[in-house]
Amino acid sequence: MASTPHLKRSPSRSHDRDYAPYLEAAWGFKNHWYPALFSHELPEGSLRGVVIAGHEVALRRAKGKVYGLADQCIHRGVKISARQMCLNDEHLTCWYHGFCYGLEDGVLKTIVGSPRDPLIGRVKIRTYPLEERGGIIFVFIGDEDYRPVPPLTADLPIRITDDPNPTPHLLDENLFMCGVHGLAKSNWRLGAENAFDPGHVLIHWDNAIVAATDSFIPLGFHPTSPDSVKIIDVPDGPKGIMNMYNTDTFEIVTENPVARIKSRGSQHHYVRTSFYLPGCLLVEHWPLPGMAIYGWYVPTDDRHHEYWDVAIARCNSEEERKDLQFKHEKMFKPLHFEDFYSNDIFAREAMQRYYDRQDGWHGEQLCELDSSIITWRKLASHYNRGIQEPPDWATDRG
Ligand code: FES
Ligand SMILES: [Fe+2]
Repeated sequence: MASTPHLKRSPSRSHDRDYAPYLEAAWGFKNHWYPALFSHELPEGSLRGVVIAGHEVALRRAKGKVYGLADQCIHRGVKISARQMCLNDEHLTCWYHGFCYGLEDGVLKTIVGSPRDPLIGRVKIRTYPLEERGGIIFVFIGDEDYRPVPPLTADLPIRITDDPNPTPHLLDENLFMCGVHGLAKSNWRLGAENAFDPGHVLIHWDNAIVAATDSFIPLGFHPTSPDSVKIIDVPDGPKGIMNMYNTDTFEIVTENPVARIKSRGSQHHYVRTSFYLPGCLLVEHWPLPGMAIYGWYVPTDDRHHEYWDVAIARCNSEEERKDLQFKHEKMFKPLHFEDFYSNDIFAREAMQRYYDRQDGWHGEQLCELDSSIITWRKLASHYNRGIQEPPDWATDRG
């Protein structure tokens, strides 16, 4: 670890022995489901490449169905998705010399310019399990022979039942959905931890949505009891943590006279965050009561992640859909997805420098605000289905 001589730390700072596997997971956890694309981003007949935890996957839609295959041709190694050559509904065709792989099994079915080649039928590229649910294409990333592949629902938030007005679940019928995804320049764990960090609300203190909606934003949620963070452990199902805001286990900090700051906004409404393996956030009742935010922090490599921020609301008529679309264009998009969320990306990217260059994982000085982050790290260390190894090319890059 590089030393930082200008910093003095408490000797009791380190919990890292309690979550050693998490510290190894720079490339993410394997054998889990991750979002790859919104359904509308892969129209019929098209091809797109994604990178998840170092796996390069070509996604192709044919006759309505989505297929995922390794995005590297076995012939000369080019990325198949680099150029679209979709000749028919049965094959993924490499644009360079025309190796045609079966969409279902990845087996080489023909070579455009060498139709009697002895390689045909004898070699293949790997295929990935896929699920298209709730307007999102999910890919199961990990070991090719991992069996049984768990259901997608095991890697999604639980269905909320303890709220008198529960927010909808991503897999419900009759939903309105809007959202964004994009690349952030930080390790996925910094994105994940920022997402549910009870202390990070301070970066939202002066956001446009606070001014526009007069929403109450505290200066911090200070945990006062071990019950402030609930463990979610559904047998064969989701594993996660829930910040029990709105209970007496958190002190809602509204003022700090020493720092001379007060919280803003007068409209209090119920908000709660929970976070699930392999890296999925649920925020209940945000950006408006009755809505929910789903977020993912998908590792691409060890220094970048693809962030996802998706809002859902119940929608039972065309009139409601038009109203939500109006709110999306005039409020959710500018105030939440752009202004509010840009503060989160800024914070994650600001942390990356320290965690990457100076091994912040061992040098950080955590405080009482961080108890749910520590709980998450321990839970993820215990329940993950494997730690993703770096790809060979990355281990050589130094
Ligand atoms: S590199 Fe793909 S067919 Fe030659
Ligand atoms: Fe945030």
